[in-house]
Amino acid sequence: MDTKKVIQERRSVHSFDPNKKVTDAQFKQLFDLVKLSPSGYNLQPWEFIVVRDAANKERLKAVSYNQPHIADASAAVIVLGNKLASAHAVDNFDDWARKGYFDQGTADNLKKQMKDWDQRDETTKRVWTTRSTALAAMTLMIAAQDMGLATCPMEGFEADKVKKEFGIPEHYEVVMLIAIGYEAKSPLPRVWRRGYEEMVHREKF
Ligand SMILES: Cc1cc2nc3c(=O)[nH]c(=O)nc-3n(C[C@H](O)[C@H](O)[C@H](O)COP(=O)(O)O)c2cc1C
Repeated sequence: MDTKKVIQERRSVHSFDPNKKVTDAQFKQLFDLVKLSPSGYNLQPWEFIVVRDAANKERLKAVSYNQPHIADASAAVIVLGNKLASAHAVDNFDDWARKGYFDQGTADNLKKQMKDWDQRDETTKRVWTTRSTALAAMTLMIAAQDMGLATCPMEGFEADKVKKEFGIPEHYEVVMLIAIGYEAKSPLPRVWRRGYEEMVHREKF
């Protein structure tokens, strides 16, 4: 499908066919595209928990204001952002150096800098990881649409409870949930969008 059509046809789907499942091969294909998302310094802070087991989806639904599409969809993906900038700094910056983007000394300095970034205040760390992880979430939804799958992004959940239920370490931000599966019923017409003139400023605010 062409990109324009994929963007135009992606919708937040609330009605999933509970009998149609997304396969392991489809998830592999999906996440092989998701990993190509851009991220700050290419540090790829995202991680995902794919929840497919019926009982686990019910547990997730219970800490997500009982939104029914969590249980009806083939899977609910918990989208996580690592708040520690240093987590993948060594693999990443050594790769940049090997590929000639900069020398090894620069790579080593950046690795040290990321250790300092781990000490930044909580709000800075949350914003930092959410920026890149949200882009990966959007890639997931666009790639899914291209594969004929339906998605719904969700912020309606209790983060602390999600973390507790699914054993998520403290230093991860629960950025969003994404229900994924096959549409049972087409959504109503797309909801209101603000226009070009209203949202785009020229040269200054
Ligand atoms: C960050 C974010 C959080 C959202 N949270 C929920 C949610 O908790 N439950 C839900 O059903 N839809 C949720 N949505 C879907 C929006 O309602 C939907 O994207 C919006 O109404 C536009 O509809 P469309 O995506 O079909 O164009 C969320 C969307 C985003 C981007």
